[in-house]
Amino acid sequence: MSIATIVGARPQFVKAAAVSPALAAEGLTEILIHTGQHWDWEMSAAFFEGLGLPEPRYNLRVGSAPHGAQTGRMLEAIERVLMEERPAAVIVYGDTNSTLAGALAASKLGLPVVHVEAGLRSFDRRMPEEINRVVTDHLSQILFAPTETAIKNLLAEGIAQGVVFSGDVMFEVLEAYLPTVEAKKAEVLARFGLRQKSYAFTTVHRAENTDDPPRLQDILHDLCQLAAEGLPVLWPVHPRLKISLAQDSIPGIQATPPLPYLPTQVLLREAAVVLTDSGGLQREAAFHGTPCLVLRDRTEWKELEQEGRVVVAGKNRGQVTHLALGLAKAGFHGPPLPKYTERPSLCIARAVQESLANGRFSEKTIP
Ligand code: UD1
Repeated sequence: MSIATIVGARPQFVKAAAVSPALAAEGLTEILIHTGQHWDWEMSAAFFEGLGLPEPRYNLRVGSAPHGAQTGRMLEAIERVLMEERPAAVIVYGDTNSTLAGALAASKLGLPVVHVEAGLRSFDRRMPEEINRVVTDHLSQILFAPTETAIKNLLAEGIAQGVVFSGDVMFEVLEAYLPTVEAKKAEVLARFGLRQKSYAFTTVHRAENTDDPPRLQDILHDLCQLAAEGLPVLWPVHPRLKISLAQDSIPGIQATPPLPYLPTQVLLREAAVVLTDSGGLQREAAFHGTPCLVLRDRTEWKELEQEGRVVVAGKNRGQVTHLALGLAKAGFHGPPLPKYTERPSLCIARAVQESLANGRFSEKTIP
């Protein structure tokens, strides 16, 4: 019985690193389809290599384009592969355009959609990710919710069937890599000339920040101020940020190309504070017990905010430097992260396997 998995962007490679082996352990054959949404070595191959993922069976090399064109190209290319491979179901992860295209292509062919990281809501439809989440959830037959709030969100939208609490796959991957992260600590810090708990780690890639020049300018200003206040900033710069941040061009700010998974985890773990607009990095910072300021108006990871594991900058745009310095000084005060009774990847693989075995996925209608 084969299952197709659609990946395309960095966080999806991370999640597949846990779920793909679990699917194999359940006896399922996986057809890994990479849309090519991320294609730079740093954004894609570095993750496949670093996380031990097999080469995808298909790389659709869709690349970048405006949202409609990118999603449309993916839809066409994914549909072609699914019609040829005829998998029993299609797994999609998270909230990117690859997620949406995978869910649409599968459901138009009558193939069951399995959504990992279902039910998250920022309640802000200006974010392309929010649209991707909502549509994908409404097209899915099995919805793996990482949090209790996600389940409530789905119920509020009338989705009760097929919802399974799985926990957060990203935590599981981190737990597995923690010994390696510890072992690499000294080497990675030395590479960037940094000392434990004496720098800020930042990433900025969400459209609401990068495509809004005044807002981006504010962020740059805040980071410069942070460095001027004595907290050097390490900034792996996403390729979508066309501003050129040559090394040492801004005193105290060290810009690097995007970094692979392992050094990123070391740098998150050892930072005094993390400033990010990434959904994945805010969770990873919380896992490492590093204070984190979320450079957004709101987060879809409500528990992290409610339980004090992250602080959302929100409307306090003029306060970012002050907030970050305060967090760096105070340290992390969130409660311990939840312990799952079952590994999220196992929960997912087992539920998919059981659905296949009991015929829940039998209504395959590829023409
Ligand atoms: C995408 C997801 C975002 C996710 C992020 C993870 C959508 C709408 N956004 O954002 O939710 O958090 O991935 O990293 O799906 N580019 C390159 N090389 C690459 C990839 C991108 O140069 O390998 C540049 C291109 O200029 C491109 C821009 O980055 O136009 C944006 O890439 P895109 O994949 O559209 O969005 P991300 O910002 O990466």
